[in-house]
Amino acid sequence: MNRRMKIILALAFSLGLSAPILRTQQKTVCQEGHPWWKHAVFYEIYPRSFADSNNDGIGDLKGITAKLEYLQKLGIDAIWISPCFPSPQADFGYDVADYKDIDPMYGTLADFDNLAKQAKRRGIRVIMDFVLNHSSDQHKWFLDSKSSRTSARHDWYIWRDGKGPGQPPNNWLSCFGGSAWTYVPGIDQYYYHYFEVQQPDLNWRNPAVEQAMFDVTRFWYQHGVAGFRLDAVDLLFEDPELRDNPVLEGTNEFGDPNMQDKFNDKLPENHIVLRKLRVSADKYDAVLIGETWTEDINELKEYYGPANDEIQLPMDLMFTSVKKLSAADFRKQIAHVESSGGWPVYVISNHDIVRSYTRYGDGQNNNAIAKLMAAMYLTLRGTPIMYYGEELGMENNDPVRKEDVKDPLGQSGWPINKGRDGERTPMQWDPTANAGFSKGTPWLPVPAGSKIHNMKLEWKTPDSILRFYQKLIDLRHHNQALLDGNYIPLHPEDSNVLAYLRSTRNEAVLVALNMSADLHQIHVDLASQGFPDAKVRTLLSTQAAAKSRDNFTELTLEPFGVYIAKVSR
Ligand code: GLC
Repeated sequence: MNRRMKIILALAFSLGLSAPILRTQQKTVCQEGHPWWKHAVFYEIYPRSFADSNNDGIGDLKGITAKLEYLQKLGIDAIWISPCFPSPQADFGYDVADYKDIDPMYGTLADFDNLAKQAKRRGIRVIMDFVLNHSSDQHKWFLDSKSSRTSARHDWYIWRDGKGPGQPPNNWLSCFGGSAWTYVPGIDQYYYHYFEVQQPDLNWRNPAVEQAMFDVTRFWYQHGVAGFRLDAVDLLFEDPELRDNPVLEGTNEFGDPNMQDKFNDKLPENHIVLRKLRVSADKYDAVLIGETWTEDINELKEYYGPANDEIQLPMDLMFTSVKKLSAADFRKQIAHVESSGGWPVYVISNHDIVRSYTRYGDGQNNNAIAKLMAAMYLTLRGTPIMYYGEELGMENNDPVRKEDVKDPLGQSGWPINKGRDGERTPMQWDPTANAGFSKGTPWLPVPAGSKIHNMKLEWKTPDSILRFYQKLIDLRHHNQALLDGNYIPLHPEDSNVLAYLRSTRNEAVLVALNMSADLHQIHVDLASQGFPDAKVRTLLSTQAAAKSRDNFTELTLEPFGVYIAKVSR
């Protein structure tokens, strides 16, 4: 514990302050010497959809501020706010037109400062989304860049001559469909955009770009931000020779040839920038969270840096590629992350991924499965990042007609890819119209399920998904084995039950998750894990008949049942 924290704690105790008040202090390092982000529960907020304070149908910063009390009660330690900067909204904020301001649709910089201040008061840190690979085509840097080949900022983006008349510089494809190159007749050159046409890639080989972007990070640190989620961080650099990517068999959802992004994805130069970003983050006790779409564990490992000097929290998005509720598949993926040597980061959905409630639900036991998923990623060794509404069992609400699609990805990918609107619908606050999100017409419709899955109702219901999340988070915050204990898989061959111990020297927590629709019994040999004659005390369970027992050997798990218990000698 650092000196400042010791003084704060001593003062608090001498004043007789209680534990909840202590929680509002922002600890930088805990008693065991862990940095704050290792023990924090993060929560992603998609600002368009969280809470609408002015009833224009779009969420805003004042809306978020008004909901901080809820987030504090839930036990959230840090919120990551998806982009709320000035933007033409071609990709709903991931096309930034000014990195150092707030879009009027979300409020003002003063509203942001107030949000950061109120959040701090409640012990909640604020993480901003840093869209560093590309800007909006309406950013003044790009407007200058495209004005002439000799403009001051021309080289701030990736420009090249075509291969010939009407032919782009190479075969690279945009992940939104079509060529990644767009021709600008005024200067007879093409610019590169991995994403939408309106999202030109910045040229990170230009030191002026690097300087400008580092300046952006300092700006937000000075506004009280505790870190950044690094958007599309795999893609900062491109091959200087712009070699063609290898073409693979078949076509993708846009009808383009499949391609291996060999020359424009995860270039080694990325790591140089990441190390520098980390140096600056460390000065502010800040965290870097990576949007790291890795193919295998070695790629993920690289993001931690050779001396743990790059991204502290590279998200294991491979975890979200576990398509079915399968104990074997999750066990395998957990083992991979554990083998990386880095501190794992668990995510089960976000604004780009179909909600976990919809992905894993079987149509009959969805609520039990939502609790099961929560019990898994909130008890594993690592940092969990929740997605707003996951704690309510929010489901995807996909558009059914192409004309209703808002997401550019859905517009170009329809009907194979319906886009991401479904996972971005308004937060479900109560059972009233528009789920209490707005008195205006929400930018996306709320699903009928919001009458049942909403904060107000679930808060009052003791066995709701929300209450289960709250209990789990509380357990996590106060249980040393869950915070820091090793991960020890049990029953490695069981295809139905995912079971593990989180173990410290003196105690452990047993987690057993039945990922099947049948009753299962497992034999728990705690003696072989160093706990002979173990005392087992139930901490949290979805099972009606969960009893605390000594000499515990057999455990019966109900369909999709969760059993979490303290194990002591
Ligand atoms: C990231 C964001 C996604 C966005 C893309 C382009 O993948 O998560 O929503 O479309 O970057 O900025």
